[in-house]
Formats: sequence, C-alpha cells, structure tokens
Amino acid sequence: MKILIDSANLEKINHIVKYFPIDGITTNPSILCKENTEPYELLEKLKQIKDLLFVQAISKDFDGMVEEAKRITDKLGDVVIKIPVTDEGLRAIKHLSAQGYHTCGTAIYTEEQAFMAALAGAEYVAPYVNRIEKFYGDGIGTVKNIQEIYKNNNLKTKILAASFKRNDQVMALAKAGVDAATIPADLLINFIHNKDVDEAVDAFVNDFYKLVGPNSTM
Ligand code: G3P
Repeated sequence: MKILIDSANLEKINHIVKYFPIDGITTNPSILCKENTEPYELLEKLKQIKDLLFVQAISKDFDGMVEEAKRITDKLGDVVIKIPVTDEGLRAIKHLSAQGYHTCGTAIYTEEQAFMAALAGAEYVAPYVNRIEKFYGDGIGTVKNIQEIYKNNNLKTKILAASFKRNDQVMALAKAGVDAATIPADLLINFIHNKDVDEAVDAFVNDFYKLVGPNSTM
C-alpha cells in the first residue's frame, strides 16, 4: 500500500517527507482553507515537494469541473484532478479521463459510486473510511468490497482510501492490500511515536555505555 499525506501544511509535510516513505500529497478545499493562504502559490510548493499531487475541482456542474481541470493543469502541470462522484462529477470523470487527464473520483461513500467512477475511467477513487464508519457503520468493509468489485470486474482503477481518524483503520486496509491510503499529517507522525520503543532504545544505549564507557558508539 502506498502512503500519501492528506494535508497542505508545509511545516508538517516537510517534517514527514524527511522521515517517512511518502508517495504523494492529497488536498481538498477544506484542507486548503485550513492554511489560509493563496491556493495556487501553496499548491505549487506542494508540487515541488511531491510530484504526485491531488487537487480538487470546486464547481458542481460538468462545464465548470472541466474548465477547472484545464486551469489546474495549465497552472500546476500534471496533477490528479479530484472530482466528487455526483452525477455531474461522473460525467466530468468520463469526459476528462477520455481526454487523458488523471482523475480521482472523490467523496466516495458507497460501493455504487466507486463502481460507476471506475467504469467512467477514473484512475483513482477515494472512499472516505471514517465518514462511512460514522454514517453507515463499516468503512473498512466498504473499501474491501470495492476492492473485490474491481478485481472481479477487471477494473484497473486504484483505491486511494481517505478520511482516516485512527491507525487501526489504515492498518486494516494495509492488511487487505489496498492500493493507497492518504493519511492526515498528525496521524501519520504518530505512526512511529511509541514510548516503549524509546525506552528499549535507551536501555540498549545504557548497556553499551556500561560495557565500553559513556558516550561510546560501535
Ligand atoms: O481526502 C479526503 C479526506 O480529507 C476527508 O477526510 O477527515 O474530512 O473525513 P475527513
């Protein structure tokens, strides 16, 4: 499973990419709103950090989405255009995918949306794991079902699971071999923080100091 950062916070992203094996960055209008800065200036910086960048269209109608996809690509180069899977969005995915744009069907709450987006040619779909769990009960199960639907129908669309609030949600999907997960920055940073690990490392170091002397190394 590939890991992406679901954030536009430069400080946190720079920290994470220094330490973690990261494949890309995903944004949406709410994520950009949190940074309270001119969106394209920020997106250009994100694109320089990671070439695989996801940017969402705002328009709710087909013409607007198509126009935005062109504008986003003109300004930022090759990025993945996120389109909410509404009826207008599905039409836009069908059109843009046929034109060679990279598309991601987003705001996926149901297997039906994921199925239609894949048939329409989406390169990715982003099912919202925690929101599905909150509204309908089984976010993990829904993503696994989408995985099975794609496998059994020979659909090549990649699943980019999103909307995570807990590590165990990500790890359940890693276990299932889902293509990718986009994880909020703070959740990702906490993947590695563990006081028991820190204590184990300190005990190793102290034993070596006892053996060879303080501040020695191998
Ligand atoms: O990438 C979509 C994701 O950001 C939605 O997450 O936390 O708003 O449910 P959330």
